[in-house]
Amino acid sequence: GWSMASFVESTIKDLRDTLGDDHVVCGLSGGIDSTVVAVLLHKAIGKRLHCIFVDNGLLRINEREEVIDFLTESFDLNLKYVEAQELFLSPLEGVTDPERKRKIIGHNFIEVFDAEAHKLQGVKWLAQGTLYPDVIESISFKGPSAVIKSHHNVGGLPEKMNLKLVEPLRELFKDEVRKVAYELGLPDNIIWRHPFPGPGLAIRVIGEITRERLEILRQADKIVQHELQASGWYRKVWQGFAVLLPLKTVGVMGDERSYESVIALRIVDSLDAMTADWTRVPSEILARMSNRIINEVKGVNRVVLDISSKPPSTIEWE
Ligand code: XMP
Repeated sequence: GWSMASFVESTIKDLRDTLGDDHVVCGLSGGIDSTVVAVLLHKAIGKRLHCIFVDNGLLRINEREEVIDFLTESFDLNLKYVEAQELFLSPLEGVTDPERKRKIIGHNFIEVFDAEAHKLQGVKWLAQGTLYPDVIESISFKGPSAVIKSHHNVGGLPEKMNLKLVEPLRELFKDEVRKVAYELGLPDNIIWRHPFPGPGLAIRVIGEITRERLEILRQADKIVQHELQASGWYRKVWQGFAVLLPLKTVGVMGDERSYESVIALRIVDSLDAMTADWTRVPSEILARMSNRIINEVKGVNRVVLDISSKPPSTIEWE
């Protein structure tokens, strides 16, 4: 049978053969895919791998601490931290269209990479954590109208970057990436980390993206993550997160009328993200999430549950 140990071994060998003495640049997002890519490449070519972590202002709480610090401490990775919050957030001001958000963020990533890669002498390759489902969903054979969402981490790199692509996970599904991560000795909090989209919280703040709205979502999402973990449901679901809706509703706080935002809970089961169903999370857990979000997150007075399956809905709201 095809084992993950042999996948790791043959991939490292292939990478060595393909890359020779070349240098490679790799974007680390904090997710399992780019982490596994980085560790595989580090094992293959060591310090000739140059990782770049971009803080785009669209990350969850603790994104950097949990993954990046671990990677540099455990693997002695070459890593450059790029502070780019302003660069990403200012062109997103006033933008509400999901595809425009993705285009702006994708474009900015390429700009940042181009600039950073140019500072590194002699880099010839760009490594990406593209998975098989990304390849299928982005490369549609039915023409541009059939493209569902333009995943910014796949294809379309402008010629000016002049880098060749190396995508060692291109043939894998997510559950296989987890097995590879296990094989590589990565810790549970990375192996079991839910997928997080490249455009980050930008596509979970529905409507306009402001620092205030991002902060509301971060606080609500922190509670969702915590309650999933504490109840043991985190590992049972494919993905669970909060979405901030672009509307306000009326409520009461004590004797006062409130008029505040709505948070939607999106918690799904899936095998590969191609199809998904909403998870039947026990109502006590949902109740705890709702109570905590409404009581603890300033600016939210209502929580709703998304009970849509994919298709026809998608996992993310944008
Ligand atoms: P959808 O919303 O298309 O999401 O059902 C399927 C899976 O892909 C993730 N996702 C993305 N990942 N860049 C990514 O790297 C993106 O632009 C992107 N959009 C969605 C989503 O979180 C889910 O796991």
